Amino acid sequence: MRFGVVTLFPEALTGLVCAGVVGRAISEGTVDLYTETPRDFAHDKHRTVDDRPFGGGPGMVMTPQPTLDAIAALNRRMPSARVVYLTPQGSVFDQATAARYREAGSLILLCGRYEGIDERIIERAVDEEVSLGDFVLSGGEVAAVAVIDATARLVPGVLGHADSASEDSFGTDGLLDCPHYTRPENFDGMAVPPVLTSGDHKAIALWRRQQALTRTRMRRPELIDESVLTSAEQELLKNIDSE
Ligand code: ADE
Repeated sequence: MRFGVVTLFPEALTGLVCAGVVGRAISEGTVDLYTETPRDFAHDKHRTVDDRPFGGGPGMVMTPQPTLDAIAALNRRMPSARVVYLTPQGSVFDQATAARYREAGSLILLCGRYEGIDERIIERAVDEEVSLGDFVLSGGEVAAVAVIDATARLVPGVLGHADSASEDSFGTDGLLDCPHYTRPENFDGMAVPPVLTSGDHKAIALWRRQQALTRTRMRRPELIDESVLTSAEQELLKNIDSE
């Protein structure tokens, strides 16, 4: 999997991305990360990348040329990559988007700063606009890190345990995850649910499924409507609802 990022703060981005499992995948070569900064493509001696907005108003807007040249530099390394602009105006990023990016195999992420970017950058070079949610960040870097992390962990070999990704929240069925416990069995008067130490694998699987369904029903009921449940799970849900 290959990621390219256009950012004014490459060190901030790589600092986060290069930690943990994704960082290990990058150093092992399973995942490639390239960054380009528009400043390197600015032609004036101050390496200017932004200017005041036409029509007035607060803040600065990133100008077309340095950013488009930075995208073009990444495009030369990754000719078939989709270009995604991170913005609150985009469609909301979710697990299905991560799976689609993983399938595509290469992605160029464009991080804005200041009030925004000149609309002609989007018209000329952007395939898709993606948001992390209904809030405003100071720049796209935090969102780019989230997209890279969520996508890279779906690449085979990035996570240690083969099944980890599919058993996460939203893993295969779009439900929230069940609670997890480890040692000690009794912590400060709080005991682990006895079924988990029973050794009865069928009962454990059933308990986990029940917990995942209960949590999803309580916290994110709309996810239940979107997920495909077996008839046994629908029965479980009826019991949960009647409790
Ligand atoms: N840039 C600024 N705010 C953002 C958001 N909510 N999602 C993605 N990119 C952003």
